[in-house]
Amino acid sequence: MKIGIIGAGNIGGNLTRRLSALGHEVSVANSRGPQTLTALAEETGATAVTAAEAARGAEVVVVTVPLKAVQALPAGLLDGAAENVAVIDTGNYYPRERDGRIAAIEDGLPESRWTEQQIGHPVIKAFNGTYAQDILTNGRPKGTAGRQALPVAGDDAAAKQKVRDLIDELGFDTVDAGGLDESWRQQPGTPVYGHQGDAEAVEKALASASAERTPEWRA
Ligand SMILES: NC(=O)c1ccc[n+]([C@@H]2O[C@H](COP(=O)([O-])OP(=O)(O)OC[C@H]3O[C@@H](n4cnc5c(N)ncnc54)[C@H](OP(=O)(O)O)[C@@H]3O)[C@@H](O)[C@H]2O)c1
Repeated sequence: MKIGIIGAGNIGGNLTRRLSALGHEVSVANSRGPQTLTALAEETGATAVTAAEAARGAEVVVVTVPLKAVQALPAGLLDGAAENVAVIDTGNYYPRERDGRIAAIEDGLPESRWTEQQIGHPVIKAFNGTYAQDILTNGRPKGTAGRQALPVAGDDAAAKQKVRDLIDELGFDTVDAGGLDESWRQQPGTPVYGHQGDAEAVEKALASASAERTPEWRA
């Protein structure tokens, strides 16, 4: 499958490694340009491109940049993507350490709703609470007892299924975490954030989340 990855840091780099190893045709972009991604391209066989090019023809696009950088992504980012493209948002709002104040999120808008408004396309929220290292090391065959599970939230059922299937290929179970309006259940500060348990444990963690944003996760 053609996959575009926008952001080549901890998460984008490791998704590039694993998805390329699985045989997917991966294009990867950062902010400084493809000439700065030659080492990753050589290591993985992925194609280094500009952010504006990354989505071209892609059936899956992963947006994995710091939240504050989402606004700096090129306009028309998803122009030229496959008609049924699933866009994965891995982002988290870190107002104090990184992103500064984003008023709409402070006022209660789920973080991924904000991101989809910025990029002008619906998103599926996944990987946001997964340690980057886990993507490389924790994948296990389907059916393995205790297989790590990732919550996946989003409104488009077909796109969500495509993302869940891809995560299964990467070696993880998934839990349907509902629509994007419910996606606060997996934001920073919730019980499932950074959770490494199996599907049953992840379901329980999602159910026990509180909608209130705690002070350390406010600007
Ligand atoms: N680290 C984790 O374990 C982890 C886990 C789950 C979720 N997340 C979330 O996932 C997102 C990415 O995290 P990360 O740790 O992978 O970030 P990171 O290591 O800081 O990497 C960010 C990447 O985004 C690129 N970028 C920044 N602005 C861009 C732009 N305008 N156009 C294209 N690329 C741009 C950067 O490119 P340059 O280097 O060229 O600037 C860099 O490759 C964040 O929202 C984070 O909270 C992180």
